[in-house]
Amino acid sequence: MSSKPAGYSRLQIALHWVIFLLIAVQFLFHDGMEEAWEAVTRGTYAGPSAGAMLHVVVGLSVLVLVVLRLGVKLKRGSPALPEEEPAVLRAVAHGTHWALYALMILVPLSGAVAWFTVNENAGDGHEVMKSVLFILVALHFAGALFQRFVLKSDVMTRMVRPGA
Ligand code: HEM
Ligand code: HEM
Repeated sequence: MSSKPAGYSRLQIALHWVIFLLIAVQFLFHDGMEEAWEAVTRGTYAGPSAGAMLHVVVGLSVLVLVVLRLGVKLKRGSPALPEEEPAVLRAVAHGTHWALYALMILVPLSGAVAWFTVNENAGDGHEVMKSVLFILVALHFAGALFQRFVLKSDVMTRMVRPGA
């Protein structure tokens, strides 16, 4: 990772949007997992529950794909943030990106510990961290809109069109 690439690769872009869709599924359809978890903690879970299985499979897919994505990032790097962007905003973007990576690992990991070892503390941690993930995604989304419509930079385009 000596010099930064001009843009994201096709693989990096595909991973960004596939992971986005999988995380959206987790936030939109978690009722089945919540019901199953309530039964597990009460000792009345008769399993298997389709809703819980969906949550586990989609969540673990996020974990695997994020590890792959981090590997690609460490090997290939990411394009530099726009030079004309104020330093404070660049620092916020940089910090948000790394926090998103950390949470994309910690959220599924805590969920897996909760589910597979029936650990209520891990379940509580999962719940708190998924809320932090949600807030950071909202901030990230606002940042993307700010780049597009206020700073009018090419940042939005580069997560759509691959660059060398
Ligand atoms: C990026 C991946 C994931 C996201 C975004 C996510 C998100 C969520 C959400 C939104 C809830 C509902 C919480 C509530 O409002 O009560 C939840 C609950 C739960 N999830 Fe996940 N989840 C992910 C991965 C996983 C994985 C991989 C597992 C297990 C292998 C898992 C196990 C659980 C369990 C046991 C609950 C119920 C306990 C609780 O409420 O914390 N999750 N998850
Ligand atoms: C679950 C939701 C999302 C997560 C976890 C996420 C995560 C990330 C991460 C970690 C990066 C940094 C990539 C790197 O340099 O390694 C990134 C970049 C980017 N994301 Fe997202 N993202 C999400 C949703 C979105 C949405 C909804 C949009 C816009 C509508 C968006 C637009 C972008 C753009 C434009 C970049 C490139 C930023 C740059 O080149 O500096 N993302 N995303």
